[in-house]
Amino acid sequence: MKDADDRSLRLAGMSVIVVENAAEVCRLAADHVEAAIRSALAACGRAVLGLATGATPEAVYGRLADRHEAGALSFRDVTTYNLDEYYPISPIDPRSYRSYMHRHLFGRVDLAPDRAHVLDGTVPEGFAAEHAAEFDRWIQADGGLDFQLLGIGRNGHIGFNEPTDLPVAESLRLPTRLVELHPVTRADAVREFGSIEAVIPRALTMGVGTILSARSILSLATGPRKAEAVAAALTGPMTSAVPASLLQSAADRVIWIIDEPAAGLLPGG
Ligand code: GLP
Repeated sequence: MKDADDRSLRLAGMSVIVVENAAEVCRLAADHVEAAIRSALAACGRAVLGLATGATPEAVYGRLADRHEAGALSFRDVTTYNLDEYYPISPIDPRSYRSYMHRHLFGRVDLAPDRAHVLDGTVPEGFAAEHAAEFDRWIQADGGLDFQLLGIGRNGHIGFNEPTDLPVAESLRLPTRLVELHPVTRADAVREFGSIEAVIPRALTMGVGTILSARSILSLATGPRKAEAVAAALTGPMTSAVPASLLQSAADRVIWIIDEPAAGLLPGG
């Protein structure tokens, strides 16, 4: 369902589809998620999806839920694992990602409640590492992620894997864990929390290694504020300073769908 004015590029071995605007990104992304569900169901009778939060995927979930309500798509045989959650936070706090997922997807589709996994922002701190390790073990026990949906932070983060100076080989293996949020991420979270003082400065995040183990990865970016991170991830070197650039290590399994403003700093953009 590609329009004549879509552009397809290949950058660092990754497929990049550039469409006109954010609405088109979400329309096409919903098609990809649906196709991923259908192909996993056809292959093994169930689908394991990694899901993202943030403003970008909201309309993707809206479209998927609409398709479910129209009787065209079922989540009955789907299992989901979300990328991240603030820490500490109650699941009933409207700013939690658990609550976001209930509003945008879980509450509107026939996904089994005990197969919709979100990292637990209420786990006691001394148990957080074990909880995160258990999350990775559950993904493995479920056969691994068939598909991972990603957004990208303005600083190039994926999930809440923030920029670091770690050697690339170490970053590529990062497991799910408790992390501190980067100042740019905290500034962007003011949108959800109201003020910088109110932003919860830590989070549990799926690790880079866990994300990269997905059998296919769809990364979305919209708007001019993401242009710099998108260009660094797609045309810069693989570096822990731009976590999204680490997707280059799984290039043949990665598709980017971005809009023209987010593609503004790419070659020919
Ligand atoms: C948050 C989430 C990320 C998300 C990013 C971009 O930090 N933890 O998973 O990709 O924001 O969000 P937005 O789509 O709102 O720009």
